[in-house]
Amino acid sequence: MIKNVGIVGAGQMGCGIAQVSAAAGYKVHIYDIAADRVEAGLATINGNMARQVSSGKLTDEERKKALSLIKGSADLNDLSQADLVIEAATEDESIKRKIYGQVCPVLKTDAILATNTSSLSITRLASATDRPERFMGIHFMNPVPVMKLVELVRGIATDEGTFQTAKQFVTALDKTITVAEDFPAFIVNRILLPMINEAIYTLYEGVGSVDAIDTAMKLGANHPMGPLQLADFIGLDTCLSIMQVLHDGLADSKYRPCPLLVKYVEAGWLGRKSGRGFYDYR
Ligand code: CAA
Repeated sequence: MIKNVGIVGAGQMGCGIAQVSAAAGYKVHIYDIAADRVEAGLATINGNMARQVSSGKLTDEERKKALSLIKGSADLNDLSQADLVIEAATEDESIKRKIYGQVCPVLKTDAILATNTSSLSITRLASATDRPERFMGIHFMNPVPVMKLVELVRGIATDEGTFQTAKQFVTALDKTITVAEDFPAFIVNRILLPMINEAIYTLYEGVGSVDAIDTAMKLGANHPMGPLQLADFIGLDTCLSIMQVLHDGLADSKYRPCPLLVKYVEAGWLGRKSGRGFYDYR
């Protein structure tokens, strides 16, 4: 039975998960290594919920109630009461493994630890925890408050109780689940990221401009965002790391990250969050 939810990482995914969890009535604690990141995350949630009130999606009482359920800190010990902790840190295996080493000793023995990884092996990540049977993937989509889907992924050791508890939790958030096997990038990103990578090749090879490519896919394929705009939205570093996981894990040259994507990431052009990507946000 989940009552208290812990979130590791106050970035766009962690805050989105915190927001929808609190809106569904769960007590939430967001942890991040730096207090100012936690503060910035809480401010983002505040802003998002205020917007939902303005657009009539939420009443002011519901907003106040949800916000009162969310706390945050840079102290790991504050996760000690959590029944479920969802790690939503950077998509970097060594960082995630390090976090599990620090978080596991703090958690209740029966707490479930889940990762929001968008591509990494759940079984391999589980091996860095003290609870592989109570570890699994709960993969939300961005923006979390808007996107209906959550992918559930079992590792080889995940037990049925853990899976069922996660399923109940995600269903209570009013999300639709899809179950994916533990293969690189699961279902959504296995399909979506090669499409985005191909759009970047299309730009790299001069087939079309940024605007031509995005307009083509918006109006020609009815996508809500063009692939280059979506890449900026996801973060080009995340896009690159997912392509690398696909390339390494499936050993097929069709997943080779486009050199232009690599170059942008090397330049620090990471999309919306850094102010510059395929578009300029400065
Ligand atoms: N956080 C919270 N809410 C947001 C938001 C955000 N970042 N961005 C937009 N919204 C809300 C808006 O407030 C608005 O809500 P109301 O209807 O209550 O006003 C609603 O979403 C629609 O927003 P807009 O009218 O401003 O803009 P839009 O109609 O263009 O929709 C969008 C924005 C929902 C992001 C839409 O463009 C879209 O669906 N884009 C594709 C998103 C997508 O593909 N996501 C998956 C990425 S892949 C992934 O996440 C997996 C991974 O691991 C990388």
